[in-house]
Amino acid sequence: MCGIVGFTGETQAAPILLDGLEKLEYRGYDSAGLAVYDGKKINVAKAVGHLEVLYNQTHGGSTLPGTCGIGHTRWATHGEPSVCNAHPHTNKDKTIAVVHNGIIENYLYYKKYLMKKGYEFVSDTDTEVIVHLLDYYYKGNPLETITTVLSRLEGSYALGILFADCPGEIFAARKDSPLIVGAAENAGFIASDVPAILKYTRTVYYLQNEEIAHLKGGEIHFYNIDGDEVQKEPRKIDWDIHAAEKEGYPHFMLKEMNEEPKAVSDTLSPRIKDGKIVIDELNMTDEQIRAVKKIFIVACGSAYHTGVTGKYVMEGLARIPVEVDLASEFRYRNPILEEGTLVIVISQSGETADSLAALREAKSRGIATLGIINVVGSSIAREADNVMYTWAGPEIAVATTKAYSTQLIALYLLSIHFAEVRGKISADQTAGMIEDLKQLPEQISMLLSHQTSIQKFANRYLAAEHVFFIGRGIDYAISLEGSLKLKEISYIHSEAYAAGELKHGTISLIEDGRLVVAVMTQPQLFKKTLSNVVEVKSRGAFVMAVTTVGNTEVEKVADYVIYIPETNPYFANSLAIIPLQLFGYYVSIGRGLDPDKPRNLAKSVTVE
Ligand code: F6R
Repeated sequence: MCGIVGFTGETQAAPILLDGLEKLEYRGYDSAGLAVYDGKKINVAKAVGHLEVLYNQTHGGSTLPGTCGIGHTRWATHGEPSVCNAHPHTNKDKTIAVVHNGIIENYLYYKKYLMKKGYEFVSDTDTEVIVHLLDYYYKGNPLETITTVLSRLEGSYALGILFADCPGEIFAARKDSPLIVGAAENAGFIASDVPAILKYTRTVYYLQNEEIAHLKGGEIHFYNIDGDEVQKEPRKIDWDIHAAEKEGYPHFMLKEMNEEPKAVSDTLSPRIKDGKIVIDELNMTDEQIRAVKKIFIVACGSAYHTGVTGKYVMEGLARIPVEVDLASEFRYRNPILEEGTLVIVISQSGETADSLAALREAKSRGIATLGIINVVGSSIAREADNVMYTWAGPEIAVATTKAYSTQLIALYLLSIHFAEVRGKISADQTAGMIEDLKQLPEQISMLLSHQTSIQKFANRYLAAEHVFFIGRGIDYAISLEGSLKLKEISYIHSEAYAAGELKHGTISLIEDGRLVVAVMTQPQLFKKTLSNVVEVKSRGAFVMAVTTVGNTEVEKVADYVIYIPETNPYFANSLAIIPLQLFGYYVSIGRGLDPDKPRNLAKSVTVE
């Protein structure tokens, strides 16, 4: 986890670094720090808590003069959030400063080694080992020192490094943690992610694993781990700068929910051509698609929940057996991956450590892989055999909304395409489904317009202690995500159950006033879930139902009903999830919480 930035140029560095860190707070926000070279020495400022604390402490950066510096926003892994553990870390005489995102797995070995050589450690972090190793090997040539140290490190890193001996220069390196280098006139930047530098430049270089960048004013050179110079091509970022900011919404989460119609449309439209589904980026011939015997969908968190929906859709339409797996389980359980298996990894960030490891596991076994990814050029996108991008744009709120919705679209498109190629659906069926898909953006907009009524309802449940979400089939998949949305940003305990499982234990937890959210969009399962609703009602539950327009029967038993427009039942998740996302959001803000930055969570989980 963590976000890093760096700037070297002709203007004051600290305000630019603070500005960049603000855009990276979604990567971690338990402490932050800056190191700026003032022409004579490196000065460091650190603070525990949100970036605001560091901002106030340094008076917006003015207490750290200088035109070259590095910054860090942290999400604790090794060592609690504290000033000592906050980055940047320096050597004893403060001639070297380091910011780091990632985990150094063999840090204990080197910590002991360096302690024997007389080095004193002031933090509990793995990062401090890096700065002391740099100090230990430094003989006046920074690049040589960095390559020497990197070749000793095991684990992941994105690094920004200052040497007091090299005024106006930044060194950067990465392995398995994201890092970009930005170029502007007479200035250079490093950052964990594009929004941090978008205000200043749109010209970026993506560092590959074990590459090093050397920035000196406007000059940028790249090297491999052997110290040989390598040439890299810059990329132009065409994101709208406002996409990375709140645009007047009180929270990124609300802004991003309101962007769902566009995100869904952007993901869908380019793949519908002349009434057909065309997935140009898919590197699979029809013969290869017909040869697929089994699919694993592997992901974490909400992305895993889209995978659960994907299983129902892919199995239902293309008749290919699908196993959905949590990436953290898949990578360690020695899964049976036989010839004809396709592994689909779903990830918004494309950097989630477990998902990346699962992808590598599949690849190392010679299995075909496909990534459904939002961040272009991210690690999973680069390493997967096939990549289908979800065009959600940057997602800043920790709780995913629009990226989740676009992942669903990618899975629908893929399922229909596979079903067509394998002759499982007719041209008429495809045409009907395409028509339904095209309606989704408009239907989502309509559901978003119910914000006031959902907020009113949410306000009645601000003191709830436990909430249950129930549903069957795809409605169960929707329940999983609805429940996660609520719990992660409101801190209310909530659980999702396959409605048919209630009787096998959970129903004993239902008592007077307990809120049960029943998702009932699947026509063939409606009656079944309805009888579960009757069961919880008769035990005193208060029931909020999400169902398809026309199912008025539910009003006889549920206390509050949200109707979604009619669509193909396979696509119902795209509609039913909208009121549930809004519900989670309004409960969170009603409880006085910040839904964009839920405690203990970070946007991109780049460590195990
Ligand atoms: C929850 C949420 C997380 C992510 C999970 C995977 O709202 O956002 O559960 O879905 O951490 O992240 P990605 O998709 O980046 O791999």
